[in-house]
Formats: sequence, structure tokens, C-alpha cells
Amino acid sequence: MMKSVFIGCGAYLPQRKISNEELATKVDTSDEWIVARTGISNRHIAADDEMTSDLAYAAAVEALASADMAASELDLIVLATATPDQTFPATATKVQARLGVPGIPAFDVQAVCSGFIYALAVADNFIKVGQARNVLVIGAETFSRILDWEDRTTCVLFGDGAGAVVLRAENSASEGMRSSDRRGIMSTHLHADGRHHDMLYVDGGPSSTGTSGFLRMRGKEVFRHAVSNLAAVVGEALEANDLAPEDIDWLVPHQANRRIIDHTAKKLKMPSEKVVLTVSEHGNTSAASVPLALYEAVSDGRIQKGDVILMEAMGGGFTWGSVLARW
Ligand code: UT7
Repeated sequence: MMKSVFIGCGAYLPQRKISNEELATKVDTSDEWIVARTGISNRHIAADDEMTSDLAYAAAVEALASADMAASELDLIVLATATPDQTFPATATKVQARLGVPGIPAFDVQAVCSGFIYALAVADNFIKVGQARNVLVIGAETFSRILDWEDRTTCVLFGDGAGAVVLRAENSASEGMRSSDRRGIMSTHLHADGRHHDMLYVDGGPSSTGTSGFLRMRGKEVFRHAVSNLAAVVGEALEANDLAPEDIDWLVPHQANRRIIDHTAKKLKMPSEKVVLTVSEHGNTSAASVPLALYEAVSDGRIQKGDVILMEAMGGGFTWGSVLARW
């Protein structure tokens, strides 16, 4: 059986930053409220001429460089986004064209904030069955385009960005090592419950209104479900791998709300130094949030080769899931 090993990562954040103070000049909110309820202080917003594919491409180029891999060596591109450049074609195909690698499969995965977790699981399965060896997995979003900038209950929460990783197939049956001691993805767990599709959604779409619509959320209910689903999914990952919470070196959570992250860390009895937090500076970047956090902790040297990392996310649908891996 092949194992999916992380060999590179990259990220891109648009230059323009919007602080809570700036938002408070546009809607009835305050820095105090946003920080206390969410932990967010800033978010990055794409320029008018920047699209999701531009953010994704920049992150992809950096991920390939850090993997020391030419784009021509890729044999699959999976891109997670809920804010594609166009309804179709898939944003992945635009990234593929710019990378100059025609012919290989390239497609988008739509699981909103869980998108990167879903995309990693898809890529991992392609690798495990031997259908791909080198896979580029991207999470990229321009949520600023689907925000109602007059709705203070949502517009303060989200931001734009992109993160990417390169996975390489490695034979897992190497000399006498236990599977859990080898680098690579150890498990993926995905869930969805479409009964809650109207708690976090966009009120438009090609087959309903013919418009792209704006994000709508019943925040309190989403919060409640996020806390219980994420606690369940991290427990599920530990149990499936016969690991204890103290075996996890780093929690790399979806960055929606500091309070949700704290709750998951508490459930894992994880000290805050082992939790990667970017929510303060990025806000919620949906499918980009986990790879952006991963990138930050890898770049600043916190995550080292061989560390066990637990990634998790929850988003509209609802969808939620985890990826447990040895970096
Ligand atoms: O990525 C997908 C997953 N998404 C999430 O996980 C988001 C989950 N939800 C949340 O993070 C939180 O529910 C929010 C941050 C969205 C809201 O926090 P909350 O503690 O649940 O606040 P609330 O919605 O109950 O609102 C409390 C009060 C309300 O006023 P009243 O009715 O008590 O007078 C809101 O109108 O805060 C008011 N409020 C605001 N005040 C200042 C709502 N938004 C704002 C705002 N500034 N931006």
C-alpha cells in the first residue's frame, strides 16, 4: 500500500489587510466585540483584479518549489474552493493551465470550510490505490466576493487566501518500521449532514437565482454543531490510530473562531503552545484556512519532520472531517 507523504507547502495572502477598526467605520461593530467573540483582528482581502485561481496559483508555485518538484512531475491537481472564478470550468483547470501541465486530471472539491480536508482525503485515496504519485492539493478562497458587507454578523468573520501542499506516494512497506512511525497520512475521516444545509449557505446559485448570492449563517447554531462535531472527529481520529491525545505534536485546526479551537484543544487536553493559530490575522478563509495555518507552522520551524499533526475542519453542508499525519 502506498502512503501519501507531505513534501512541500506554500501559501499566498493578498496584500490588502482590513483591521477590525476599519470594519467598524463601515458597519456597527467594534474591535472589542470581534476579538472577544471570535479572536479575529485582521483579514486579507483580494484586490479587484485578483481571482481565486490567482491566489491558488501563487500558493501552488511556492509549494512546488519547497517540494523541489517541477510541475511536469505532477499527475493530479485537486483544488478545494467554494468561491471558484466561474461556475465552471473548475478553478483547478485554470491553475493547471498556468502551471503548463495539460493532460493530467484537475478538478475542484466543494466542501466549503472542510474543503481542504476533503481534498486531502481524495488525493490520499488516489495515491493509495496507485492512480497518482505526485499530487498538488490546494485550498483557495475569495470569500470577500460573497460577503454582504452590510451584514455585521458575517462580514467581520471571513478573509481571502490560499494554501497548497504537494503529496508524494511512498511505499509504506519499508524496513521493519511500524506504519504509524512512517511519514505520511495516517488516516482521513470525512462526514456530512445535509439536513443542516440552511444554517450556513449562500443565497444564490446558477440553478436557483442565477446570481452568485451572499453568505448567510445562523452563527449560534453553527457554533454549537462545530463544537460537538469537531470534538467527535478528533476522538475518532485518535481511536482509529490507537493514539492518545499526548501523541499529537500539533493541532492544526480550521480557523473559524478562537473559542471553537480552544474547545477542541481542551477536549484533547492540548496545551495552547501545541495549537497552531492564525485566526487572529487571517480570519476564516474557509478551505484555505488549514493549509495556511500548516504553512505558517512549517515555515517558522514549529512543525518538524516526523511530528504528528492533526488537522480538522467543519463547514457548510454541514461537512466536517480530520486528517492525521506524520509530517
Ligand atoms: O467556518 C464554518 C464554521 N463557522 C463557524 O464556526 C462560525 C460559528 N459561529 C460563531 O463563530 C459565532 O456564533 C459568531 C462569532 C458568528 C457570533 O458569536 P455569538 O457569541 O454566537 O454571538 P450572537 O450571534 O449570539 O450575537 C450576540 C449579539 C447579538 O446582539 P443581541 O441580539 O444580543 O442584542 C448580535 O446582534 O452580538 C450582536 N452582534 C454583533 N455586535 C457587534 C453580531 N455580530 C456583531 C458584530 N459586532 N459584528
